[in-house]
Amino acid sequence: MKDRPTIILNVAMTADGKTDTITREGVMISSDLDMERVDRLRAQNDAVMVGGHTLIENDPRLTIKSPELRANRRNQKQEDNPIKVGIITNAVLPPDSRFITFGPAQKIIFTTSQTKVTDIERLRQLGVKVFITEGRQVDLHSALHQLSQLGVDNLLVEGGGTLNEELLKRNLVDEINIYIAPLILGGASAPTFVGGAGLDRNNALRLNLISIDKQDDGGVLLRYLVAKSAHESINKNLGE
Ligand SMILES: NC(=O)c1ccc[n+]([C@@H]2O[C@H](COP(=O)([O-])OP(=O)(O)OC[C@H]3O[C@@H](n4cnc5c(N)ncnc54)[C@H](OP(=O)(O)O)[C@@H]3O)[C@@H](O)[C@H]2O)c1
Repeated sequence: MKDRPTIILNVAMTADGKTDTITREGVMISSDLDMERVDRLRAQNDAVMVGGHTLIENDPRLTIKSPELRANRRNQKQEDNPIKVGIITNAVLPPDSRFITFGPAQKIIFTTSQTKVTDIERLRQLGVKVFITEGRQVDLHSALHQLSQLGVDNLLVEGGGTLNEELLKRNLVDEINIYIAPLILGGASAPTFVGGAGLDRNNALRLNLISIDKQDDGGVLLRYLVAKSAHESINKNLGE
């Protein structure tokens, strides 16, 4: 068994590198055509993961929309939808959250001891598996190990920038898919797809380009592998 799933990080950004507006209302940056690609990507993965802000503020369904793709999975003895996974410090989800209500899908929350016992019990009653890390943050290495043990070989991460950065700086991402929409949103404080404190040029994370595809909607899809050697300097820089 692998120590962790193979991880693809998927993002939709504007031509000026933004993943949302300054008001962070979760605007749609993907075109309908790109959403079909994301649907296929979800269908190829065993689980789909998002960070706490994306989970609460965007309220994503994280399910496969195409009936054909779901039927293909059933034919291959897979569940209709990948497992939904949330990483969240204080797991207070409304019961009508789409993470909980849309399915059928297994749901897993990795949280910390900052979540009240009553909130954990409520999530469990709603059919969510909850794993708790003692301390300030979810231990991502052990969360990924836990997912491997549950049979997750391939994991799709769908943001946001904080979770993306936490995974990248720990050398936990294998591939990055970036859809660049023919749009500009601007806004100095609008989010980009990697948050955190940032790196200086000497410690920049290095990527290897696999493909560039011009899309019929005027967008571009870039696929990169994350270079393993680039992480040595990053981890040293961040004291990991
Ligand atoms: N265009 C796209 O492809 C795309 C995709 C997804 C999201 N977005 C956008 O990105 C923005 C959200 O990004 P974001 O960076 O603010 O949030 P995020 O990455 O979705 O969530 C970050 C939060 O998740 C929790 N978290 C992350 N790692 C954790 C860990 N190891 N342990 C415990 N909790 C952890 C923390 O919550 P606490 O703060 O509670 O500690 C952290 O602040 C939104 O504007 C959204 O629309 C865009």
